[in-house]
This record gives sequence, C-alpha cells and structure tokens, in this order.
Amino acid sequence: MAEPRISSIDGKLAEEFAAPAHVKEVKDKMAAFAQRHAEAGRCVVLITSGGTKVPLESRTVRFLDNFSSGRRGASSAEYFLDSGYAVIFLHRHRSLYPYTRMFSTVNMLDTLQFSASDSGEVVVNQQVLPNIAKVLKRYREVTNGQLLLPVDFSTLSEYLHLLKAAAQALSTIGSKAMFYLAAAVSDFYIPASEMPEHKIQSSNGPLQLTMNMVPKILSPLVKDWAPQAFVISFKLETDATILLEKARRALDTYRHQAVVANVLDSRRGYVVVVTPSTQDEVVLSKEEMKNEVEIEERIVTNLTAAHAQFITQQAG
Ligand code: PMT
Repeated sequence: MAEPRISSIDGKLAEEFAAPAHVKEVKDKMAAFAQRHAEAGRCVVLITSGGTKVPLESRTVRFLDNFSSGRRGASSAEYFLDSGYAVIFLHRHRSLYPYTRMFSTVNMLDTLQFSASDSGEVVVNQQVLPNIAKVLKRYREVTNGQLLLPVDFSTLSEYLHLLKAAAQALSTIGSKAMFYLAAAVSDFYIPASEMPEHKIQSSNGPLQLTMNMVPKILSPLVKDWAPQAFVISFKLETDATILLEKARRALDTYRHQAVVANVLDSRRGYVVVVTPSTQDEVVLSKEEMKNEVEIEERIVTNLTAAHAQFITQQAG
C-alpha cells in the first residue's frame, strides 16, 4: 500500500507550531460527527471564523491580532443549518457565535426583570429582546439535533493544527464535506525557537521584529488532507482594483472550487463568488440593508447549489 504523502507543510507544522493538547480528542469528535451526519444523508460544512492571535513572547503578554468579528462565519453557520447542513464551527474563542451573536451588544442585566408575582422570579424582558423566543426555538432545535459542533481556537498554532485535524476527520465523507474558510488568518508569525520567553522590555528601546511567513494551509488541505471535499476560501482586500485578480490567482494556485472575494469596507453588502468558470456578484440593495437582510444568506444559497452540483459530478 502506498505511504500517505507527507507535505513539507506537515513537517513545518509539527516543528514550528505547538499543537494543542486536545487535538486528537477533537479530531475524533469531528470524525464521529461527520460520519453520523453523512450516514443520515446530510452534508457537513466546516466553517472557520474570526481572527488568529499571534504571540510575541512564549509567556505571552503581547500578541498581534486582526479586525475580524466572526460575524460572517457565525451568520453563515445559521444559514447552512437552515439549508440542512450539519456544521462544525471552528471559531476564535469569544468571537461572534451562531444565534447568540444577535444579542452580543446587549447588557444581560438589562434584558432581565423581576416577574410581576413578587416571588423573586426573574424573567426576560421581551421588549429589550423582541426576537428571543424565535431565536431560542431555533437554537434548541439545532442543539437537540446535535447539528452544530463548536470548536474554538485562540492562537494561530491552535487554528492550524485544528484545521488540519478537521480536514483529516472530514476526508472520510468525501465530496459531502464543504470547507468554508472565512477566518482571517495571520500571514506572519514568530517561530517558537526564536520567540523570547519573557515579556519584551521597553527599556531595551524601540522594538524591531522579523516575522516568518505562515505556510499557506490551503495547499495541503486541497491536495493531501481532504482531496475530495468542496473547498471555498475567502479573499479580503482593502483595494477593490486588485481583488478579482487575486481571487483568480488563488484558484489557479490551489485548484479548489471557489473564492468568496470581498473588500473590507463593503463586505456586508457586496461580495463576488468566483469559480474557475463563473463570477457571481452578490449584492444587497440599500432597501435590503435597511431591512437587515444578511448577505450571508445569499452567499450560502449560491454555494450550497454549487456544492450539490459538485457532488453529482463527482458521483458520475
Ligand atoms: O469576521 P467579519 O468581521 O464578519 O469579517 C469577515 C472577513 C472579512 C474576515 C471574511 O469575509 C474574509 O474575507 N475572510 C478571509 C480573510 C483573509 O484572511 O483573507 P486572506 O487573503 O489573508 O486569506 C485568503 C484565504 O487563504 C483565506 O480563506 C484563508 O483561510 C486562507 N489562508 C490564509 C492564511 C494561511 N496561512 N493559510 C490559508 O490557507
């Protein structure tokens, strides 16, 4: 039997990024989740969401982070669940989370009040949370059906190892697996071997840092870890004029199925779904934005249709 391919990225991951202690346990959980849902006829999507944290010291006081709130990933998870998918939600610890995201800016104590009965019983003030009953009902359906498996990460190292574990866990369900890589992943890091142990001292003067390039994880994911899966990466730019060219270049380089291209300032109302043969603009009108229509609903509709087609083609 042929030996499995070991990419140079596997070696780099093992040497330079500390694996979280629970990675094997999480991998087994994800594999069992995927298997159970695939046997029940469901597709499974792995969503990555939020930003990665890059430590500057091993006993970390300071780290580099980025802007991502996790809203794209959390709202997309809800629409995938509504479309019949089971969801593994690989997200940055404390970033926005499906269903609770809608109440993330509310002060919990302002949502509660004593009931009229004077018994000391506390009830929810539905004027402060007008949608709570509807959201709670859907959340319960999802959790009772065990349709959502949350896995969290904080650092870049945790993200990379957990994504690899997820890809390997989902490889057993072939084309029924979708990867929706919406997380904002750092491109730079300091290898463990070069990281100072203790807090960097400001008394040493201005800080100069040289950071290494993070290996592009899409490459082994598509080629080695989950070669039959439907893979979607995201491309974020601040300069709209280079966006589509960068998206096409990513498709050429990694040979995956689609790129969702977005610009930082317009990402809530405009994205382009780029595939090797198509380019679909997904746009919300001013009216739709005002009525709180979410662009993720349209993105998910577009991609679930493309995934269904992909599964049929792979089977044929
Ligand atoms: O969370 P929100 O505030 O709602 O914002 C959503 C978003 C803007 C973060 C999201 O829509 C988005 O664009 N996410 C990807 C941002 C990003 O990091 O783009 P990139 O061009 O740096 O990376 C491109 C792709 O390569 C990503 O899908 C990433 O998963 C992948 N990648 C990145 C780095 C790395 N080392 N390996 C990778 O495979």
